[in-house]
Amino acid sequence: MNYKILVNRENKIPGNFKINLVDVNSKYKKGILLEEKVYQQFKKMQKDAKTQNFEIEVESGYRTHSYQEKLYKDLIDKKGIDYAKKYIAPPFTSEHETGLALDFCIYDNGKYIIEHDTKHLEATKWIINNCDKYGFILRYPLNKEGITGYNHEPWHLRYVGDLAPLLNKNNLTLEEYYDNF
Ligand code: DAL
Ligand code: ZN
Repeated sequence: MNYKILVNRENKIPGNFKINLVDVNSKYKKGILLEEKVYQQFKKMQKDAKTQNFEIEVESGYRTHSYQEKLYKDLIDKKGIDYAKKYIAPPFTSEHETGLALDFCIYDNGKYIIEHDTKHLEATKWIINNCDKYGFILRYPLNKEGITGYNHEPWHLRYVGDLAPLLNKNNLTLEEYYDNF
């Protein structure tokens, strides 16, 4: 399994990309799947987050190509193409279709907080500061929109394994890593 694979608008998921998916038993929603190693690493992070009194869950994991297409089309219908292009990847170009990416949510005060609303939470800060220990990077950081092609998504984590600390310490996106190393 190539956990370092670059997937973006210019780099579609190869047709022969195979993954072992497992159910993550998310309390947020039933039936969410992730690649098995990604799930194990998320579980470790979730357990350590709990010791800090942060409850994190998976809000979105693996997506089929047809589901990614539906999300993309639905957002275009709702918000227009210019907005949709900044937040949802077209089918065959989303990391969610690899099983290596997840959107986390935070359980706080009896409810789940998702996407934009997670931005200012202490739990989110903890995840962003610690996720590389478990092999994750924040894939769409602030001020890198021109490089990643997507707006800041403080909820979207991508598993890259042992590459994560290097990227986080040097404030590098996956695109910059492949351009420079
Ligand atoms: N929100 C990210 C870009 C995706 O759809 O994969
Ligand atoms: Zn995502």
